[in-house]
Amino acid sequence: MKDILTAPFVIEMVRTTANMYAHGWDERNGGNISLLLRESDVRDYVDVNTVLRTIPTGFFAPELAGKYFLVTGTGKYFKNVQYDPAANLGLIRIAADGTTAELLWGYSDGGQFTSELPAHLMSHVQRLQADPENRVVMHCHPANLLAMTYVHTLDEREFTRTLWQMCTECIVVFPDGVNVLPWMLCGTNEIGIATAEKMKTARLVVWSQHGIYGAGKDLDETFGLIETAEKAAEIYMKIAHLPRKNTITDDQMHLLEQRFGVKAREGYLD
Ligand code: 13P
Ligand code: ZN
Repeated sequence: MKDILTAPFVIEMVRTTANMYAHGWDERNGGNISLLLRESDVRDYVDVNTVLRTIPTGFFAPELAGKYFLVTGTGKYFKNVQYDPAANLGLIRIAADGTTAELLWGYSDGGQFTSELPAHLMSHVQRLQADPENRVVMHCHPANLLAMTYVHTLDEREFTRTLWQMCTECIVVFPDGVNVLPWMLCGTNEIGIATAEKMKTARLVVWSQHGIYGAGKDLDETFGLIETAEKAAEIYMKIAHLPRKNTITDDQMHLLEQRFGVKAREGYLD
């Protein structure tokens, strides 16, 4: 067996959690990540026939039976993942029953996966249907997106259009827009179901007064998606109280669609 601390998926997870902490998106234990892995990714690093512990997930996801995920631990601080990956991360496989997680590595201090596992795994199910290449679900608490949910309408078309207007490249990075949930109790199956429903039509889902979920094919892409939306929200929060003299018009957005070969969400541009 190779040392799992040298596995590309662990190294990338360590780098990503440290980077997210450095961006101020993950205070204390805020935020969580799940990374879908193939058996071929993990079998050089763990004995896939040795289950260290089983942990009930509390929900039923038969579509994910046999699938492997690297998942941040509940109550764990992103700033600490780099110093002790084995305590702060876990490699789980969803058992054949679709409701039990089999721990293959990690959570070494007796911990377990994030309390937001329902939102993560249900979102994986939806995103895989939309894009078989999807591998990552990422949650964090970026200040400007959160601030925006206090002062901006939560109407998804309006919220998306405002973000698109804040930086030229937003419509290119997230032409599918941003979906928005009202405040809901976190860590529950209910918010998991609601998030996954929103993931059918967009890779970004805002949790009002809480944070954001992003989905993508790898950690870099998903980080970049949230980074771009957060930059746009930062600009909005800088200008929202000032009279607006200029903007990016819908005609200009259509030029961006043509130039970059993207299609804005149906009905979101005039
Ligand atoms: P966990 O520590 O359980 O991952 O929860 C953090 C969080 O952001 C809850 O929404
Ligand atoms: Zn959170």
